[in-house]
Order: sequence, then C-alpha cells, then structure tokens
Amino acid sequence: NLAEFRGMEQGHLRLAAATTAKYFIPKLLNSFCQRYPNIGISLEFTNHNEVLERLNKNLDDLYILSRLPEQEKIEAESFLCNPLVLVAPKRHPLTRQCRLPLESLEKESLIVRERGSQTRESVEQLLRQQGVSVQIKLELNSNEAIKQAVVEGLGLAVLSLHSLSATDMNQLAILNVEGFPIHRQWHVIFLKEKKLSLVARTFLDYLLKESQGYCQAFSSLAGKGIVFPRELK
Ligand code: PGA
Repeated sequence: NLAEFRGMEQGHLRLAAATTAKYFIPKLLNSFCQRYPNIGISLEFTNHNEVLERLNKNLDDLYILSRLPEQEKIEAESFLCNPLVLVAPKRHPLTRQCRLPLESLEKESLIVRERGSQTRESVEQLLRQQGVSVQIKLELNSNEAIKQAVVEGLGLAVLSLHSLSATDMNQLAILNVEGFPIHRQWHVIFLKEKKLSLVARTFLDYLLKESQGYCQAFSSLAGKGIVFPRELK
C-alpha cells in the first residue's frame, strides 16, 4: 500500500524517453521532485528506436514512447496526446490556404529527423499510404535544429506540437493539410517481468495522474486552423 510510504520514498529512478518528451517531462518532474525530495532521477532522451533498444536491454525502470512496440513482454499505459503538425515559415505562401490536399506537398521540400525517429516514421507512413512523394531535402537529428532550418526557409517539417513554444510561433506557422495533425499518443512502458521498485511505481502513478488535462496547455495554439485530438478539448 503506497499510502503507508507517503513521504518516505527514496532511491533512484531510471527513465528513458523519446526526444520530444523533453518538452513536457521536466515540467512534470519539477513538482515530482518537490514532493519526493529523496528520489534521485536519471533520464535519457534519445529517439524511438534507441529507447526500444534500452527496453530490450532492460537498462531503465520506465520508458516513454509515442508508439507501442509489438511486444508481449511489455505493459503500457497511455497518458498524453502527441499531435504531429506540419510547420512552415510564417510567411510561406501555403499558410494562406486552408484544407490543402496532401499532394500539394509534392512541390515542397521536407526536412526530416534521422532514421530511428518515430516522428519521421509517422510522416513517411502517411506519405506512403497516400501515395504522395515529397523530396527530402535535409535530415537532422534534432527537433530544435529542424525548427531553425524551417525558419531559414530550407523546407517544411513535421514536428510534435509539444516541441513548439509560443515564441516559436512568432516565426513558424502550422499548415492546414489533409492528414495532419497525425494523432499519436504518449505511452509509459515497462517490462512485465520486471518488478517495479517503489520509486518507479510512485513515478508511474504520479505521471498518469498529473498528465491528465495537461493537453489543455496546448489551448493557446487552438484556432490556428488545426484539428486537435479529442483529449485537447
Ligand atoms: P522520436 O520521438 O521522433 O524522437 O523518435 C517520438 C516517439 O517516440 O514517437
């Protein structure tokens, strides 16, 4: 019974998360650390495939990913939406249009993440399924570098809505294109065979509780022509 231990939790928690989780996990950790000052945390941010490798090697207590691996040996809880949006520089001609067909991207260049990124995989999957081919101009292994490259006019990119701040939106615009946003969901995952430590269980419960309603933080971006997932309402 966790309640008996309230305030006594101590130890170390090892987490691994896919890159765009870095935009919301620190916020959640702040209040967690205040509530549980005796729990130390190490957190590894890397792309989706590398988080899966860490899971297969059993390196961490909990893993945060936006696509569930097809594995029987895992347990998973979904806790937050992860809409992937198509961004362009603020003054790009496509920003003046609404409900663009996906084919309109065929004349554009795309900046994508490295192989192993789930954000990239989601975009490629959408284009493949719809039979649309878009020129990949640049491959970058950082969401921040991608934003800069879009601002510089090197191409369009698909990014998690979590990665866009109000300041970014002074220079970027979210395009209203068929198929976007791509709706993904964040999951917290652990190995079934692994008996979770008290600290890991405490964090898991905390994450599931605190993230409820967190999507409302996106409401400042509402009304920009994008359809938000139901969780955002
Ligand atoms: P990635 O992140 O693009 O950095 O792999 C997100 C994910 O797991 O979906």
